[in-house]
Order: sequence, then C-alpha cells, then structure tokens
Amino acid sequence: MGVSYKDLGLVNTREMFAKAMEGKYAIPAYNFNNLEQLQAIISACVESKSPVILQVSKGARDYANATMLRYMAMGAVEYAKELGCNVPIALHLDHGDTFETCKSCVDFGFSSVMIDGSHHSFEENIAVTKQVVEYAHAHDVTVEGELGILAGIEDEVVAEVSSYTDPDQVVEFVERTGVDSLAISIGTSHGAFKFKAGEPVPPLRFDILEECEKRIPGFPIVLHGASSVLQDYVTMINQYGGDLKGALGVPEEQLRKAAASSVCKINIDSDGRLVFTAKIREHLANNPDHFDPRQYLKPARADLVKMYKAKNENVLGSAGKA
Ligand code: G3H
Ligand code: 13P
Ligand code: ZN
Repeated sequence: MGVSYKDLGLVNTREMFAKAMEGKYAIPAYNFNNLEQLQAIISACVESKSPVILQVSKGARDYANATMLRYMAMGAVEYAKELGCNVPIALHLDHGDTFETCKSCVDFGFSSVMIDGSHHSFEENIAVTKQVVEYAHAHDVTVEGELGILAGIEDEVVAEVSSYTDPDQVVEFVERTGVDSLAISIGTSHGAFKFKAGEPVPPLRFDILEECEKRIPGFPIVLHGASSVLQDYVTMINQYGGDLKGALGVPEEQLRKAAASSVCKINIDSDGRLVFTAKIREHLANNPDHFDPRQYLKPARADLVKMYKAKNENVLGSAGKA
C-alpha cells in the first residue's frame, strides 16, 4: 500500500534541475531530522522564494520514523502554502545504500532517491543504479547516482580517503543507468573537518568538473559535502563548552562558482547541525534554569532560518526562482 509523492503535494527534481541548469544556479538540498529543522528550511525557502529539496539520510529516516516523515513532508507542503508561497518541494533520500532502501522510500512518498553505489565496482554500481532507476521511473521518481568517493562519513560508511570522479566513466554510467543526476567527487568531503587546520584550503578540482561537463553537457551534476562550516558558529560552540577546534569547510566563493556551473544541486547538512547546536549551547549556558525545549529550540530554529536564507540568496542563487 504505497503512496505517491504527488498525493503529498511534492514534485520530483526534473523540472527544478532543468530550470537551475538554464538559470545557472543550484537547488539547495538541506538535510533534516526533526520538526524544527524542517520548519526552518520551509520558512527560509518561502521567505527567499526558493525551490527546495528536503533531504533525508537513511539514519534520519530511522530516527524520525518513515511514516512520520511522509506526513511531515506533506505538512511541509501545506505549511509553505500557509506562509504564502507554494515553492516546489522535493523529498529526497540521501545516500541510499541498497535497492530495497530506495524502493521503500519510493513506496513511502519520496519524490527523488539517491542510490550511492560509489563504493562498489563500476559494473556493480551500474547494476544497482539501473535497478533503482527502473523502479523509480515507473513511479515518476527521479534518481541521483554517484561516481567517485568523498572522504568522511556517508551515513554508516566511512571513507578514509577520497577518490576523484574519473570523467572517462561518466558517459557510460549515465547512458547505461538512465540516472537523472550524477554526484561527483571533486575534493569536498562530508562533515565539519573537511580540510587540515593550519594549512591552506586546497581549491576544489574544477578541472574535473569541467571535464565531466564536457562529456555530458547540460546534464545535472550534484555536489555533496558542501557545507562552509560557518566559523561564527564553530566559535560559539567552542565558547560554550564544545570542542570543534580546527573545523573547516568549503569557501563560499567556490560554492558560488560551482552553483553557476552544471552543478544543479548542492548538499548541506553540517552547517545546519552547527547552527542548531551552537544556539542551543549558547541559550542553555546563558539560561541555566531553562528546561522547556521551546525555550532553547526557538532561538536555534530562528538562526537556522537566517542561515538557509543567506545560502539561497548569497551562495546558491536559488532565491527568487520558485
Ligand atoms: O552524507 C551524509 C549526511 O550528512 C547525512 O548524515 O547519516 O548522519 O544523517 P547522517
Ligand atoms: P556536509 O557534511 O558538508 O553538510 O555535506 C552533506 C551532504 O553531502 C549530504 O549528502
Ligand atoms: Zn553526501
């Protein structure tokens, strides 16, 4: 007894990506796990009139519960309307690990899924991705594949080192799988410690991105690991009892450059985590007698809204495109 994302008011990513490619901007894909994060993403995207991809990892799905998520996404669509702007909203599985996980998400109302077969051999990656595409496309759900490995934590999989995408593989991968978008590895990684503290941040490998663009012109490319690791919030966390010394992310100029290229989707999770945690730490440190979650979650949610709006307006270029 599956449910279609269309009945939840969601859209798949096809038209979003076509417009982002044409307009040279990127759609934000913001990860969330709970109500406050979801409220903040929707408020920010309505206020900045940006299309948005609500992104859910397998871990987040387990945390929030698959059934709850379906109705949270439906609630998000209605909340956007209530706030006055019916922005296009996709619900996307981040780093799907197996065909079964992806199928379950399609059946539970996701409008887009990622099958991350990047840890498999090229042939196995093609086989599992193709299987997901066949099932998803039969339900008009779009599919993101991945070639190349990002260092850091991808859900339960931890890669010590990254391996850049080989541009010579992209045409065959895209043609044989039928994917709608392709995540590539050009030097970003997941999490808050992307680069070594005290050393100059190495530029992303735009040469690899350009080679991929040449081989698959006009095809939507996805950039994972795109948090800037906002230093004001890292400082706040450290000031109020945390220990995230040396946390570093992708400089915003490089993300702007990526957004203006064939990169149509930019994934941001860690920045949301940092903002939320920093503001909760600050609030509780300054108000030791508070114990009502609304007291400390409200300021955390408010700063999340500001942060997501700033991303849409100043980095991704998605503001005003809904
Ligand atoms: O790519 C990884 C995302 O940041 C999701 O992380 O599996 O801890 O929810 P998570
Ligand atoms: P960050 O850890 O840089 O936010 O990356 C998130 C991501 O790529 C989710 O798939
Ligand atoms: Zn990722």
